[in-house]
Amino acid sequence: MGHILEIRDLQELAKRRVPRMFYDYADSGAYSEGTYRANEEDFRKIILRQRVAVNIADRSLRSDMVGEKVAMPVALAPTGLTGMQHADGEILAARAALKFGVPFTLSTMSICSIEDVAEATGKPFWFQLYVMRDRSFVENLIDRAKAANCSALVLTLDLQILGQRHKDIRNGLSAPPRLTILNLIDMALHPRWCLGMLGTKRRTFRNIVGHAKGVGDLASLSSWTTEQFDPNLGWDDVAWVRKRWDGKLILKGILDAEDARAAAGTGADAIIVSNHGGRQLDGAPSSIWALPRIVDAVAGKIEVHFDGGIRSGQDVLKALCLGAHGTYIGRAFLYGLAAMGEAGVSKALEIIAKELEITMALCGENDVTKLGRHNLVAT
Ligand code: GLV
Repeated sequence: MGHILEIRDLQELAKRRVPRMFYDYADSGAYSEGTYRANEEDFRKIILRQRVAVNIADRSLRSDMVGEKVAMPVALAPTGLTGMQHADGEILAARAALKFGVPFTLSTMSICSIEDVAEATGKPFWFQLYVMRDRSFVENLIDRAKAANCSALVLTLDLQILGQRHKDIRNGLSAPPRLTILNLIDMALHPRWCLGMLGTKRRTFRNIVGHAKGVGDLASLSSWTTEQFDPNLGWDDVAWVRKRWDGKLILKGILDAEDARAAAGTGADAIIVSNHGGRQLDGAPSSIWALPRIVDAVAGKIEVHFDGGIRSGQDVLKALCLGAHGTYIGRAFLYGLAAMGEAGVSKALEIIAKELEITMALCGENDVTKLGRHNLVAT
């Protein structure tokens, strides 16, 4: 593993190890992918303030997110089809997160189910919820998350209609993959991945199949979302979820100051500034552009989290400087998972922690909770 120095190294490995359909699913944005690219590019425009002659011997990355202690303020984001990047992917990622001391968030659109992850880890994790037309299914998901001891519910607000990702359509994305000639050839080129998949029973959307009415088999994410996700989702539904879930509630997908102020009045514990990794509204601003504006808009009324474009500990630091209380990585951990399973997720977390710690020290700071706009050069 000595040659793996940055998240890009894991990404290169992932590209080789995973069938094209699933690698592309992670590494894609909506339409022109302009917002997807901006999420990363806008981080590069932020300039750090270098300080010297500060005692930086004693450093700490420890913080908290919605009141939970974290080894560093970097959670694993909910990502769909994680168990298609690597067999049992959600279980492996949850284990790596647990060992590192950061939260793992399981997606509604995961391959391993809430129960699979609970049984494998025996510890609380976070669960991400989509609101479906069938409210009894949603109620049931919330109850299942409670029964599994999930400590936070992450309610996604920016995907009631799926943004079009051209690659997924061209690749005919489905889980498990349809056995067309092209898919069979692609899978044969990835024997390690195939072996893993043959060795697990978890190969479809296990939160849904067998739980939602009339769903015995679910191949395509896009057909499921079109039919089932409720385009009527409104703030009254957020209030409804708030009533049913008495644990920590985090609202994901806030990119606008007005929405942020509305979210702050719902009784939720945190918001995530997010454009869904550039996968929904192409043409929307990058998450890091939106972050300081939202922090100013909510003026401390709610904890502000951030995701979108983080590929290094330096990016985490920049988000914290701009007012994020916590951050999430999605693709950065998926690349590690696809490359090397649990060890790859641990590696991604180690890389990010090390980059964050060294960058923090060179900025003349000892404590990650003390980072702020004073650590940036005004441009
Ligand atoms: C689902 O959450 C997706 O972005 O594909």
